[in-house]
Amino acid sequence: MTDAARDLISKAMVDAGDPVEFAAYAPSNIALSKYWGKRDRSRNLPLNSSLSISLAEWGSHTEVAPSESGIDQVSLNGEVLDMGTAFASKALKFADLFRAGRAQPLKITTRNTIPTAAGLASSASGFAALTRALCGSFSLSLSEAEMSLIARLGSGSATRSIWHGFVRWDKGRAEDGSDSFATPLDVTWPDFRIAIIPVDVGPKSHSSRDGMNHTVDTSPLFAAWPDQAEADCDFIEAMVREQNFTALGQRAEANALAMHATMQAARPAITYLTQDSWAILERLWAARKNGLEAYATMDAGANVKLIFEAQSQDDVTTLFPEAQVIVPFAG
Ligand code: DP6
Repeated sequence: MTDAARDLISKAMVDAGDPVEFAAYAPSNIALSKYWGKRDRSRNLPLNSSLSISLAEWGSHTEVAPSESGIDQVSLNGEVLDMGTAFASKALKFADLFRAGRAQPLKITTRNTIPTAAGLASSASGFAALTRALCGSFSLSLSEAEMSLIARLGSGSATRSIWHGFVRWDKGRAEDGSDSFATPLDVTWPDFRIAIIPVDVGPKSHSSRDGMNHTVDTSPLFAAWPDQAEADCDFIEAMVREQNFTALGQRAEANALAMHATMQAARPAITYLTQDSWAILERLWAARKNGLEAYATMDAGANVKLIFEAQSQDDVTTLFPEAQVIVPFAG
């Protein structure tokens, strides 16, 4: 079967020269309406659309250059990696989409600006920055929508990290993935805030990829997810456009909890949330009863992320002194 992303790369590569040094940046993102479940695992084609907010200067700086030593070299946060590490082999496999068998040894250098203490995964920003850097290095003239389509092959959530701000990834329908890419919403919300409450910053128990596939394969609750998630995504998009923070927050929190419910029903169960995550949620819910306007969302890990508006920031940081606050529309 044809693959739209691979076709785009091979068409663009016809006019490409040898790789040159090129540096790119992509922000990480947090989904307010989650991507959970694939209809095609090799292309990372989702069963439902998703909507995220990008994390401004928290992301990945990636440089691609010809390797002078004549062999591939991958480094992450200043450390040259062994080729057997997961990061290095994934990055090179992705670069192979562009090299297509040509002998073009590359040096790939990535530096994440996401504080390690935040415990956020960086595959979204990592593959988005690598896509931008490879396209630049090979001087391909591709649009951002096309780069989003290509980044999807690395990791689904990377589809959304091509842009800043609020971003929607439409699930698309085409088998070759030609209509499954992300686009930004033309909405600026200067008072929008995100806080990361770190719970467990070590490596996660299961990758999001394994957790997602296992849930689709075994959870009797998963059947209810795709339609509900699609409706949540549409609703959240409408609330972002209206800047209705309360309705947006309530639905984003419900969407995240529903995603975690599908995992808990998987056989055997997957539980990314720990006692500490639940304790944070209890504290948040108690504070909300007393008027705090903040909502939670959680991904394939124990950390809790809060969304709120600028006027609630002091209350949030008093309640959670460990919170790391991000301003997505700064500057
Ligand atoms: C829970 O994008 O990491 O963070 O496509 O298999 O690489 P792959 O999965 P990944 O899954 C992210 C799942 C999530 C929700 C989200 O970001 O939408």
